[in-house]
Amino acid sequence: MRIIITGFGAVGQNLAKILKDENERFVHSYGFKPSIVAVSDSRGYCIDENGLDLNTLLKTKEGHGTVARYPGKGEKDAGTNSIINEVDAEVLVEATPTNFRDGEPGLSNIKTALASGKHVVTTNKGPLALAMPALLELAQHKDLRFRFSGTVGAGTPFLDLAKKCLPGDSITGVWGILNGTTNYILTRMEEGSVSLKKALSEAQTKGYAESDPSSDIEGLDTAAKVVIIANWVLKRRVSIKDLEIVGVDNVSPEWLRKARANGKKVKLIGRLDEYRASVKPEEIPFADPVCVPGILNALSYSTLHSGQVTLIGPGAGGEQTASAVIRDLVDIRGEYVA
Ligand code: HSE
Repeated sequence: MRIIITGFGAVGQNLAKILKDENERFVHSYGFKPSIVAVSDSRGYCIDENGLDLNTLLKTKEGHGTVARYPGKGEKDAGTNSIINEVDAEVLVEATPTNFRDGEPGLSNIKTALASGKHVVTTNKGPLALAMPALLELAQHKDLRFRFSGTVGAGTPFLDLAKKCLPGDSITGVWGILNGTTNYILTRMEEGSVSLKKALSEAQTKGYAESDPSSDIEGLDTAAKVVIIANWVLKRRVSIKDLEIVGVDNVSPEWLRKARANGKKVKLIGRLDEYRASVKPEEIPFADPVCVPGILNALSYSTLHSGQVTLIGPGAGGEQTASAVIRDLVDIRGEYVA
């Protein structure tokens, strides 16, 4: 399978590292033979139609801060559109940073790839939050696969649980914690009497927060994930503008203390049911499986026959998200042998 990667930050680099280190396992277990033929970052690109050497790629990025310095095959300041259009590949892995204002550059990268006949795997929530119904329609029209499991839960397969394991049931509602940064902040504020600012800076140091952390704090990151679940799992064609969104900036230590005295914790909850699509701080009983601490995410599906089905796991991190990209690539390979 020939792959182009746009965006070579933590996710892209971890992806290259896992593909390099575990190559034999992918071939042996899935017959999956990935070849990365082009990579772009914010400063340039490199291309080798015979497959880039992943050791050289990773060392170049580490040593020079850009893939444009890949020996003999790199260029500075290229437009990614021409690479996506012109390089012969089956799949685009879109891993540029999330931007909730206009979705760029990810939105154009995804549209260009689909228009030029390439499947797309993305970890970028911006284009999905703003234009998911249109992108799903475009992929369907072109008979191409569009996958994004790393956008919700990183390595924890919240989307796949619903899509692959519950077809015999009917999902009537979804709610849970979908943002590790704010869960970490609320947990630290409650248990360590730490200020929101200090807890956020700890989360940033650990690499959980978005490049613009206001997206975490104001609830936009959770809202993007609610939009993705709504469209993909519940087939509700909503965008971020359709949601009620309240962040955690006004959660006070007093509220946290009062909730605790009543056997509850305040959590930033994304919620979807027949009537609501919302993100806001809610009081959750200690005993509810969704009431998890630290950076954990937890999502409950309310089902017609099986009751409340919950999955818990880490929801952020470059390595975890890279594993979700591979899950999607293997999935696509299962349908389109390349
Ligand atoms: N900032 C996000 C979080 C990253 O904290 O959960 C994963 O989407």
